[in-house]
Amino acid sequence: MTTKVILENHEIPRQWYNIVPDFARAPLPYLGPDGLPVRPEMMTPIFPMSLIEQEMSNQRWIDIPDPVLGALLRWRPSPLRRAEALEKFLGTPAKIFYKDESVSPPGSHKANTAVAQAYYNKIAGTKMLTTETGAGQWGSALSMACALFGLRCKVFMVRISFDQKPFRKVLMELWGGECVPSPSNATEVGRRFLEQYPDTPGSLGMAISEAVEAAVSDSSGNTKYSLGSVLNHVLLHQTIIGLEAKKQLAKIGIKNPHVVIGCAGGGSNFAGLAFPFMKEKMEGAQIDIIPVEPASCPSLTRGVFHYDHGDTGGMTPLMAMHTLGSTFIPEPIHAGGLRYHGMSPLVSHSVVEGLATPCAIPQLECFDAAVTWARTEGYVVAPETSHAIAATIREAKKAKEEGKEKVILFNLSGHGFMDLAGYAKYFNGELKNYDLPQEEIEKAKETLARFPTAKV
Ligand SMILES: Cc1ncc(COP(=O)(O)O)c(C=O)c1O
Repeated sequence: MTTKVILENHEIPRQWYNIVPDFARAPLPYLGPDGLPVRPEMMTPIFPMSLIEQEMSNQRWIDIPDPVLGALLRWRPSPLRRAEALEKFLGTPAKIFYKDESVSPPGSHKANTAVAQAYYNKIAGTKMLTTETGAGQWGSALSMACALFGLRCKVFMVRISFDQKPFRKVLMELWGGECVPSPSNATEVGRRFLEQYPDTPGSLGMAISEAVEAAVSDSSGNTKYSLGSVLNHVLLHQTIIGLEAKKQLAKIGIKNPHVVIGCAGGGSNFAGLAFPFMKEKMEGAQIDIIPVEPASCPSLTRGVFHYDHGDTGGMTPLMAMHTLGSTFIPEPIHAGGLRYHGMSPLVSHSVVEGLATPCAIPQLECFDAAVTWARTEGYVVAPETSHAIAATIREAKKAKEEGKEKVILFNLSGHGFMDLAGYAKYFNGELKNYDLPQEEIEKAKETLARFPTAKV
């Protein structure tokens, strides 16, 4: 019986994996306001040069600095567990494994990049980081990382999540961070959003605009911006998840799983688990790689691959990605971390290249899956993570129908202890599925016509 596979401290990966040089066709560059590829120096107002270099790097393996490893070792290597009770419940011949990223102090994978970003900023002389947060997992993770490395932290939290999850703010404050609901009156762009959409639940796109403005408008130059997903360097830091998983599976004689699954908001936990296996796939392994998104915010399955801004205010460079349009405001579902109009350019590129096959799942099926999970495996997961579990259950049932002993691996991106209000609504029958009408998507897509098309 293999209930879990643990790595020793000395077995922790010492390098991150950068997928960029391994793609058969290169991902498209970010574009600046002049329509030309962004040059590194153009990003220095918001990021330290070390992170910009990682963002644009073509180097396959990048060393993890010792102080970052030291911080990661607080909770890493994370366990690889086998979900035998769920397998039995489903009567499936599939073997279900998952990486448990809920073991970090703030309770999710977000801490993996938070400590790396805080470290690189600290050594570059940054005094304060600004950021956005959806469900509050990222804002908590960055607040913790800033506490560990001696930085101040200001978090713009999407209004609806701020109201749904009040204890996330307390958690951020406990780690010394400041948390304001977004849109806010603290920034010019926030005031514009409030004027335009007075009753808005907010969105990650809006909160990103506010956090970027808060960083660039600090004339001391000591404030930088930090993003919890989407960008290449963030995905890079998360690859430690998949690299550990490969070592753990090897210990029990499995080279590659047949199916790899992760929920996808901006794409970082999915990519973190999947990219090391995508490398194997590019080298010939047969692996189904599935990013899972909410049916109410279906950027990968119903959006277009197009150049678009990463934020609603149009402050970020244009990125080639699957998008619903940067003015799209997703329904206020409980998986706040999946309410993003776009998708990481690298995850989008992997879909364009046929390396990943996305699926979208409605909210109620995800909550059903999370409850089945809690009642079989015991753990309470975040609503974001429940999307990965719902897809895993679909795949396990498929394996049963096909009579195949498949190995399924998914990423348990975070625990749900701060999400009990969502579970309460589910039990009270107050949650519903949001089927996004096609005309809504068409309307959002119209806003893209002003940007260049993306052709790989
Ligand atoms: C627990 C959890 N999982 C997944 C996500 C989605 O983000 P990403 O797609 O970057 O992994 C979030 C974002 O807040 C999260 O909190």
